[in-house]
This record gives sequence, C-alpha cells and structure tokens, in this order.
Amino acid sequence: MTSEAGNDFARDVLRGLSGLPKSLPCKYFYDARGSELFSDICDLEEYYVTRTEMVLLKSMQEDLGSVLRPDTVVVEPGAGDGTKARLLLSAMPGRRAYLPYDISRSALDELGARMQDELPEVRTLPLHAQFNDQERIQQNLSEAFPDWPRLLFFPGSTLGNFAPDAAVELLGSLADLVGEEDHLLVGIDLVKDTAVLEAAYDDASGVTAAFNKNLLQRVNRELDADFNLEQFRHLAFFNRNDSRIEMHLVSECQQTVAIGSQRFDFSPGESIHTENSYKFTLDRFGELASRAGLLVERYWTDPQQWFAQVLLRRQGGVPA
Ligand code: AVI
Repeated sequence: MTSEAGNDFARDVLRGLSGLPKSLPCKYFYDARGSELFSDICDLEEYYVTRTEMVLLKSMQEDLGSVLRPDTVVVEPGAGDGTKARLLLSAMPGRRAYLPYDISRSALDELGARMQDELPEVRTLPLHAQFNDQERIQQNLSEAFPDWPRLLFFPGSTLGNFAPDAAVELLGSLADLVGEEDHLLVGIDLVKDTAVLEAAYDDASGVTAAFNKNLLQRVNRELDADFNLEQFRHLAFFNRNDSRIEMHLVSECQQTVAIGSQRFDFSPGESIHTENSYKFTLDRFGELASRAGLLVERYWTDPQQWFAQVLLRRQGGVPA
C-alpha cells in the first residue's frame, strides 16, 4: 500500500470503531488474501451470484449483438479479471474496444494478458485508476476512442455494496462517462427467498466467515492491532426492511482491543458491521436509477429471477 492509502485505512478504521454501532468499510476486504477468499466465494455452491450472472450474460449474447451499436468501446470500472466483459465483447458487432480500470496493477496485467490470448482483435487499454479518477478516464477514452459509442459495464452486483444515496451518486458519476446516445449495463442481485440469501453469505465451509474475519487480520497486520480472531464470530442475515444482507463480526466476550496506542472496548454480543449487500426489485432499482438521471431501457433476468442485467441510458438521451 502507498503511505497515502495506508493513512486512509488507519483513519477509516479508527473512525469506524469509534462510532456507535461500530463498523468497518467493506472496501478494505480486498487485500491479497481477501481477494483470494472472494474468488473462492464465487466458486461456492451457496454463492449463486457469480454463477447466475455468468449464465445470464451468456443467454443475452444474441440480444446484445443487436442492441449495441457497432464499434462500441466497453468501459469497466473495477474490472478484476474481466471474465464477464469477455462474454460481452465476444458477442458484439463491428470493431470492438475495451477500457478496463482497476486499482490493482497485478489484476490489470493479468487481464491484459488474457485479452491478448482470448480476444486479440479487441483493442484493449487497461488503466490503473480508482472509481473517482473521472477526469483521467474521460481523457483516456476521448484520446484513444474519439467518437466511438460507449457501453459502461458494471456487473457483479458491486453497486449493491453501496448504501442507496451513495449508489445514486456512483451511478451518476458513471453516467458522466457516457454520452446521451450511449448505454450503461448494470448487474444487480434481486430479492429472493431469505434462506437462499443467508446461505450465500454464511456458507457451510466457512469461506465467507474467513473473508469477513480477514478484515481484522488486516487491521492487526497493517495497523499494529491485537484482535483475537477466535473471540469474534461471523454473522450474516437478511434485513428485509432495508432489503440488504448485513455482515457483522460479533464479540464473543467482554474484551479490549489495542490498535496502536488506542483502545477499543467490546461488550459481549457487540458487533462490528462490516458489509451491506443490497438486494433489489426491478421497480426499486428503476427508482434509484432515475434519481441518478438514468432510464431503464431494457432488462434481462435468469429463469428464477435471481439476478438482472439492466440496460440504462441518460434521461433525455435518444432511445436505441
Ligand atoms: C463484491 N460483492 C458484490 C459481494 C456481495 O455479494 O455483496 C461481496 C461479498 N460479501 C460476502 N460475500 C460476497
């Protein structure tokens, strides 16, 4: 980590644990070990999200070929290994280009190599950037692909990890990267049976519990803390009122944890709220999108209606 990123981490952890209720931002799950564990989660039987979305994207390939304009550049924030974008790109008409951006340089290197292997005809321009590096992304797009139609691709239900106001803000800023005739394609996880949802976030083999607890390990390692991982348990439940899975780490006893020179007391049963994963209905997502100045043009779901890909464009834009 750069020292600037390290300072942000320390500041956010101390702030989160000083609050009531205590919390930690879920964006810090993804250190090297956390990313490995997340990749294991995606392969779990209980975690239907990734599998369902991949099958859905495959089933949409023909439609997308006709909906998208030829010569489109696909822009993907937080692209990771780009597997889902490759499904899209292989179905698109005309010349194709891909501008993935991510904060992980190693993920971008790997992605570049896989694109070269699997879709060498697609012009790929990986960019090391954060979600909010708007100006630089815009500049790279305009220089490399002037006048190309754009498709902003945001799969994986990542939007679900943002609270509604933050999700509106994020959607609005992603919409700023595309023109009025362009599209956004956003993957959202849909409300479903509580048992299915809760099993996905509390799997029998304990991978999600390890992913959640790895956050404490990261605090121990990077911020000189002494969390005892044995004394916290993983908790995940569906909060139907707020339509979200909540993940927590619950203190098993009265304890005091040191982070550098600071001390944090935990009473038995007190929790650290580590993640929300919002589950949408199509109507509710439509309202959220509209608050961000976007209109739903079309959507696709799997046969069980567990997951959706929603095609959006800016309000006032021209329907395709
Ligand atoms: C990355 N994100 C969409 C995952 C989700 O389903 O909310 C993160 C996750 N947390 C626990 N399992 C997966």
